[in-house]
Parts: sequence; C-alpha cells; structure tokens
Amino acid sequence: MKLFIDSADVNEIREAQEMGVLDGVTTNPSLVAKTGRSFDECAREIVEMVDGPVSLEVVATDCDGMVREAEQLVNYGPNVVVKIPLIRDGLKATKTLSERGIKVNNTLCFSPMQALLSAKAGSSYISPFVGRLDDISHDGMEVVAQIIEIYANYVFETEVLVASVRNPLHLVAAATMGADVATVPFNVIGRLLKHPLTEIGLKRFLDDWKNVPEG
Ligand code: E4P
Repeated sequence: MKLFIDSADVNEIREAQEMGVLDGVTTNPSLVAKTGRSFDECAREIVEMVDGPVSLEVVATDCDGMVREAEQLVNYGPNVVVKIPLIRDGLKATKTLSERGIKVNNTLCFSPMQALLSAKAGSSYISPFVGRLDDISHDGMEVVAQIIEIYANYVFETEVLVASVRNPLHLVAAATMGADVATVPFNVIGRLLKHPLTEIGLKRFLDDWKNVPEG
C-alpha cells in the first residue's frame, strides 16, 4: 500500500519524507489555509520536494472553471494530480481532463456509487473519506471494502486512496483490504511506528549491552 501524507505543511512533509516511506502528498484548501501561506508558495515547494504524486485541489465549482484551474495546476510539475470534488460538474470535468491525459483525484467520496461514477469518468484516484463517515456513525471502511470489490468486478484502473484517516486502525483495515493508497495526517504517521514494547525492548537490550565484557 502506498503511503501519502495529507498535509500542505512543508516541514511535516520533509520530516515524513526523511522516514523513507513517503510515496506522495495530498492537500486540500483547508490544509493550505492552516499553513498561513499562499497556495502558490505551498504548491511550488511541495511539488519540487516530492517525486511522487501531489494532489492539488481546484476551488471552482463549475466544469469550465475546474478545467481551467486544472490546466494551471499541472504547470506546477509533472507529478501534479488535480483534485476534483464529486459533484455533477466535477464528474464532467474529470471526464474532460482524463481524456486530455491529466490525472484526477476525485475527492469528497462518501459512497460506492460515487466511486463507480468516478471510475467511469476516468479518474486516476478515488478518495473515500473514512473518518468523516465514521463521525456520522457510518462505517467508513465498509464503504472502502465495497469500492474495492466493485472496482475488481469491472477491472477499473482507478486507485483507491483511503482519505480522512484518523488512526492506525484505519490503516490496518485499508492494507488488509488491499487499498492502493492511504493518505495520512502527520500525527498519525508518527503513531504507526510507535509501540511501547519496541521501546521497552530496546531499552533492555541497551542496558544489558553495558554488562557485556570488553575484549
Ligand atoms: C483527502 O485527500 C483529504 O485531504 C483529507 O483526507 C480530509 O481529511 P479530514 O476529514 O481529516 O479533513
């Protein structure tokens, strides 16, 4: 499973990258706003820093506007994926852009049928938001399982990108189901590696090592 970071903060992205397991980045307007920097500054730096796919989101809500914005966004670099919301005009824009060879990540997916339409329109990625579904007592990972099954039935090439991840258990479920990608906030990436028994075990090894005679 590919691991993306869900962030527009270049310091977080750099730190995750240094761990050696980062495959790409997803951003959204809220994440950019959180940095307090301009979109242009964030986009430029992220695209330059990361080799893998970087999702940058449009803010237009009409098809022509989305297509125009997408054509600007891809100028940031060859690894840009345009993030388009799953509304009617978004679907039309997805079809137009994918036919022109521009990669699209359809965002704000909350149902298997939205995911089916996205794949039919030619998206490269579908982003089901599992945490936000869990928040309203709807099992987010169940929706992911349904999408994976539907895509396998019809051999769609759209990659399933599990988004709105809130904890390591979302990732265990995603990897077990065979999701293609998970995009993970920085604080959750840190928690993936941490295990108290690893820390206790390492301390014991190092303490015992002090008792090994030299020579
Ligand atoms: C996906 O690409 C989105 O940026 C993201 O995962 C949204 O997650 P949230 O529900 O934590 O805002």
